[in-house]
Amino acid sequence: MNLTPLDEPALARLLEAAVSGADPLEVMPPVEDEPGWTPARRAAFLEFHRGRSLRAETAVERTWVIDVDGKAVGAARLEPRGDAVEAGIWLSRAARGRGIGKQVTAALLAEARRSGTPRFIASTTAGNRGARALLSGIGAKLAQRGDEVAAELPLS
Ligand SMILES: CC(C)(COP(=O)(O)OP(=O)(O)OC[C@H]1O[C@@H](n2cnc3c(N)ncnc32)[C@H](O)[C@@H]1OP(=O)(O)O)[C@@H](O)C(=O)NCCC(=O)NCCS
Repeated sequence: MNLTPLDEPALARLLEAAVSGADPLEVMPPVEDEPGWTPARRAAFLEFHRGRSLRAETAVERTWVIDVDGKAVGAARLEPRGDAVEAGIWLSRAARGRGIGKQVTAALLAEARRSGTPRFIASTTAGNRGARALLSGIGAKLAQRGDEVAAELPLS
């Protein structure tokens, strides 16, 4: 597993991974359109990442493409939020359940520690057993409110 910092070529590979192996709602905010990976949704996916990571004036997070054997299988991100850094991961279907999420979580945690941030946070949903297992696996405290699960791990 290798984390490749997002740039335009990596973003093109990431879109391919998303289209071939993930549902739009797993990887981007909702877009009003027909179901599936329509041209509008593909364009919104690219703009979403350009705005949040690639365009210096609007960037709020660092994003990496998760590569396995040279092929994009998902994305990982770290977003500074106050005194915390929020982590996020998605993997394409074929890459799930093989321990990749665990390796990526460890890499994000190491990067958060390196940056000196006091708290590592993440959020998921109650039914997302994979994400919950990943987060409790690193020792994060999980708090559920309704369908939302907030995870927090102090780093200092
Ligand atoms: C959530 C996700 C990142 C987990 O990554 P993964 O590579 O599939 O997880 P791993 O194979 O590394 O497994 C990590 C742990 O979760 C458990 N796990 C993984 N998928 C699971 C599932 N569907 N149900 C129950 N447990 C699961 C594994 O058994 C393992 O537990 P262990 O540490 O006790 O052995 C991945 O499944 C995914 O991208 N899902 C879709 C998008 C998403 O939900 N992203 C997170 C939003 S917050």
